[in-house]
Amino acid sequence: MKFLELMKKKGIVAAHRGARSIAPENTLLSLQKSIGRCDFVEIDAQLSKDGAVVVMHDDTLQRTTDVTEIEVFKNRAPYRVCDFTDDELLMLDYGSWFKQNSGHKEPLLTLRIALEFIKENSMFINIEIKDMSNSFADKIVVRAVAKEIEDAGVHERVLLSSFRHEYLREAKKILFNVPTAALFEGSVQDNLLEYLKDLEVEACHFDDASADEKKVKMLREAGYAVGVYTVNSAKRAKELFAMGVNYIFSDSLDKELKKYAL
Ligand code: G3P
Ligand code: MG
Repeated sequence: MKFLELMKKKGIVAAHRGARSIAPENTLLSLQKSIGRCDFVEIDAQLSKDGAVVVMHDDTLQRTTDVTEIEVFKNRAPYRVCDFTDDELLMLDYGSWFKQNSGHKEPLLTLRIALEFIKENSMFINIEIKDMSNSFADKIVVRAVAKEIEDAGVHERVLLSSFRHEYLREAKKILFNVPTAALFEGSVQDNLLEYLKDLEVEACHFDDASADEKKVKMLREAGYAVGVYTVNSAKRAKELFAMGVNYIFSDSLDKELKKYAL
């Protein structure tokens, strides 16, 4: 099966940042723990100072690493990911901050390692490209991500998404067989269908508060897949799937949620 087929199914559950309720988010451990608990995983990708694609959600390193405890980095506030080289990021621990990890260290997850893992385990992955327009040209960002997908040979296992829709437009030029999804938070364009057609995306991802029946129906009838983030309540999952939402992004991959997804 290709991602394009998976995303058109109903009742799909995605592991948001990996299985982040039981493992530190966006780490290899969080991908390992998501096996058997979801239909695909979602991760966040951004670039290091020297252009390596690394898997991390926040623009800065404090929340999910031990950067503030490392002597050589003491003058590097505000600890922006894009101000650290790949070699520097490799020095950090991405696991100890997570309370359930009880001091267990986790190494940096690069997109390369994540994609190799997906391939080895026959999984599917949504790579959300974080908005790095303040630090890198759009083409540089998209080419770096595309190179990893090409090198790993996982075109059929990937869905690309971003709040920065220019990346999706750029991606279609070089990865024409990889599906893309426009991420929205809050309001959408008045002429949404025309806008999406022009972007050539296959899907839309909305925040839970902005997902309503009218919009979901309109998009599904127009042939788009619809995903909603972040949904941790089984009751809400049931409502969204009944509305026609194809997939939800969830932190809590428990059986109750999955019951409504099947
Ligand atoms: O891609 C869906 C969701 O992950 C978007 O929000 O901030 O968790 O990356 P965020
Ligand atoms: Mg994300």
